[in-house]
Amino acid sequence: MEFRGRVFLAPLTKGGNLPFRRLCLAHGCDVTMDEMAYGYQVVKRSKSELALLRKHPEETCFGAQVAASRPGDAIAAEFAAAERGA
Ligand SMILES: Cc1cc2nc3c(=O)[nH]c(=O)nc-3n(C[C@H](O)[C@H](O)[C@H](O)COP(=O)(O)O)c2cc1C
Repeated sequence: MEFRGRVFLAPLTKGGNLPFRRLCLAHGCDVTMDEMAYGYQVVKRSKSELALLRKHPEETCFGAQVAASRPGDAIAAEFAAAERGA
């Protein structure tokens, strides 16, 4: 995707949830971003953390953000996000 001229939703922990992101898409947003997910929780397959990585089909350019103190957790979590369409 060409990013020039696109409308981005700022990453918003506790704000950028899926229903809100869909509302933003309906109002012209092009690029969306999930809420911050904790890498170690994603690695543990925490349901609530994995839910943060869920992408809606309307999200054609979807970014994931992960917080981790261990690089291995960050990498595993980003792979999990990529598997879900990020
Ligand atoms: C409630 C709230 C949550 C935020 N969460 C994140 C976040 O998870 N990750 C991040 O990089 N920035 C986060 N930010 C920073 C916003 O993305 C940042 O304020 C925005 O990019 C600045 O845009 P502006 O200059 O148009 O205000 C958050 C900001 C707010 C107010």
